[in-house]
Amino acid sequence: MKIRILFFLNLAVTVCLAQIGVSIIPQPVIMKVNSGNFIIDAHTAIQFNSNQKELKSAADFLTTNVKNISGYSLQINVAKQKVIQLMIVEMPQIGDEGYQMDVTTTSVTIKANTKSGIIYGIQSLLQTLPAICTNVTLQVPCMNITDYPRFKYRGMHIDESRHFFGPDVVKEYINLMASYKMNTFHWHLVDDQGWRIEIKKYPKLTSVGAWRVDHNDKVWGSRPQAKPGEEATYGGYYSQEQIKEIIKYAAERNITIIPEIEMPGHVASAIASYPALSCTQKPQLPLTGGNYTDMSSNYCAGNDSVFTFLEKVLTEVIELFPSKYIHIGGDEVDKGPWKVCPKCQAKIKTDHLVNEEGLQSYFIKRIEKFMKSKNRKIIGWDEILEGGLAPEATVMSWRGEAGGIEAAKAQHDVIMTPGSPVYFDHYQAGPEGEPLAIGGMNTLKKVYDYEPIPKELNAIEAKYILGAQANLWTEYVTTAEHVEYMVLPRMLALAEVLWTQKENKSWENFNERLQSHFKAFGQKGLHFSSGNFTVSIKPTSQNAKLFVNLSTEIMNAQIYYTTDGTEPTLSSNKYTDPIEINLSLLLKASTVVNGRIMGAQAARQNFVLHKAIGKTVTYTNPVSKYYPADGPNSLTDGVKGTDAVGKHWHGFSGNDLIANIDLGEEKNIQSIGLGCLQNYNDWIFLPQSVLFESSIDGIIFTEIKTIPNTLDIKQKKAMFEFKADFPILSARYVRVSAKNNLCPVGHSGAGKPGWIFVDEIVVE
Ligand code: ACM
Ligand code: ZN
Repeated sequence: MKIRILFFLNLAVTVCLAQIGVSIIPQPVIMKVNSGNFIIDAHTAIQFNSNQKELKSAADFLTTNVKNISGYSLQINVAKQKVIQLMIVEMPQIGDEGYQMDVTTTSVTIKANTKSGIIYGIQSLLQTLPAICTNVTLQVPCMNITDYPRFKYRGMHIDESRHFFGPDVVKEYINLMASYKMNTFHWHLVDDQGWRIEIKKYPKLTSVGAWRVDHNDKVWGSRPQAKPGEEATYGGYYSQEQIKEIIKYAAERNITIIPEIEMPGHVASAIASYPALSCTQKPQLPLTGGNYTDMSSNYCAGNDSVFTFLEKVLTEVIELFPSKYIHIGGDEVDKGPWKVCPKCQAKIKTDHLVNEEGLQSYFIKRIEKFMKSKNRKIIGWDEILEGGLAPEATVMSWRGEAGGIEAAKAQHDVIMTPGSPVYFDHYQAGPEGEPLAIGGMNTLKKVYDYEPIPKELNAIEAKYILGAQANLWTEYVTTAEHVEYMVLPRMLALAEVLWTQKENKSWENFNERLQSHFKAFGQKGLHFSSGNFTVSIKPTSQNAKLFVNLSTEIMNAQIYYTTDGTEPTLSSNKYTDPIEINLSLLLKASTVVNGRIMGAQAARQNFVLHKAIGKTVTYTNPVSKYYPADGPNSLTDGVKGTDAVGKHWHGFSGNDLIANIDLGEEKNIQSIGLGCLQNYNDWIFLPQSVLFESSIDGIIFTEIKTIPNTLDIKQKKAMFEFKADFPILSARYVRVSAKNNLCPVGHSGAGKPGWIFVDEIVVE
């Protein structure tokens, strides 16, 4: 027994001493730490003016949190030696969400214009305390803080259609958001794979639409469609009572919930419930994964009863959610069904709409009109720009920033959520050693460095950028632990992007503060990523020589590397300056922290020296703006693509690669190779064939060889070099043409254009 007590005391002392210094995230506007501490113990009380009734819940929030940490029940509005004073006072200079906190040895005073500001002050106060510290006095360092946010929209999204998590996980998510002063929760409640909100007028939306046949054991894109008669056992939904409770829980933490009721596409779950809502009106079941094939997933835009349905649904939604905004989706509408639907086509004719994009615009505008009549505003994904934006719509820019820029220039409000860097379903490290993700790479630093105001906007246009949001789509995220892992710590970086004044941001300082948050996550049993340990390998050329820069996001780390293909160890070369590459080699590099090699696998990069290095490449068809590799001459920079999508690859969607290289002078050549990637799940396929040609004058080209794709690799991931060896010939120009494929039968995009990804053209 004695030993157990000693053990616990020891633990308590260790835990409590661990919290030294002030590590508030997001960094406040002004913060001055003084000597001395305010002690929270049995002699401490919370006080507020009882006329300011709204502060009761703020006081309760602080009381609950302190009790959870230390076990002390702070009393409210009783006389004690030491007080935590909460005060609503007029302080116009700090705005609606700002607060001022002054901590001395005898008092903590938190002042603000609103209860929101008081709650933020409390959140800052809580961040100075240990995560758990039972039966030990809590110390708050004496300090003065004046603080307010840079952006008014600070959002986090979660997709509960692809996976239903339930109230406890959502509340935990909201709590985490609140700790970092995020103020808007975008709740994606409707999509093809599940309808998650009870609508009393349409009970089948949840009795049918919330349930799908369980193929969760298979990868998202390769799940078979449900067959008639199969039992739908996977899913769930929120009752209206549960939703009310979650809205209240969020409001107590300053969080507004914006529900997303997706339309007109991504609604297979609604059509499964009420087939008359689609163009074909055929019965179907909610999607089991990403495989659409012959599923109907759009509402019919030419059928008035669809709008009657939606108005009734939205009326119930509006009664539940007090938010000024309701998100109505609008993304990725497959216009195919509308093109062949008599009702949709008739609507296009009678309303003189230009085409199906015009029909989408008509749809969104009609819904906006209804929402306006209910005194609400709509938000839509950036596709709502196509065919003409609804007059007062707010645009969520997800396909990069272009939609947001266009909308802001047209004087519409914008929320920035570009896939890179704020899609938190993308990898944050590795990808070796990481849980399977949808793709992409949004590291902590990439998030931290994000600037929501694009440089294309002038000061007036910039005012339309309300803020930004991270999105967590859950095709690959199905547990609470995984949710935590994907948002911690990236959400903290985003919080600092959105709250902290730009000039107060510091990556180094953020990392220092982050350490105590990591400790707290550990103590609370939260799952988090400790960082991206993959070394970044960046080639540059100087004076016609090829160099590589190595860097790591990890602070206080070193980099060790090899050039002989072996794995780096602590006895390998330590990186100090850019490395000159003057022969073909494989470079491998690892991050080392405190004498330990970190990460699941060393970063690797092949370099090849050949006759086309540095030569200009022109394309007959444009390279995708999403996959530009390192710029126009990536195919001749000596750097080969790796199996990470996006890394050094040029991507072509739906058309062929036709690359023309001018070698500058006639050269003797005897082989040409083109590196290609296949990544079946990402719609990237090896070309059907590659044609190699040469020319002396750049006008008349002669075929050297055509290499067909004869590999039998089906759905495998692969890198393959199509290579032609031939007797020496003299040429100044080389042309390489790679034939694109449609997605094959059985693939989720069957019959649609696929991608080809190409890297170095090696000429020897
Ligand atoms: C989206 O990611 N489809 C909005
Ligand atoms: Zn139709």
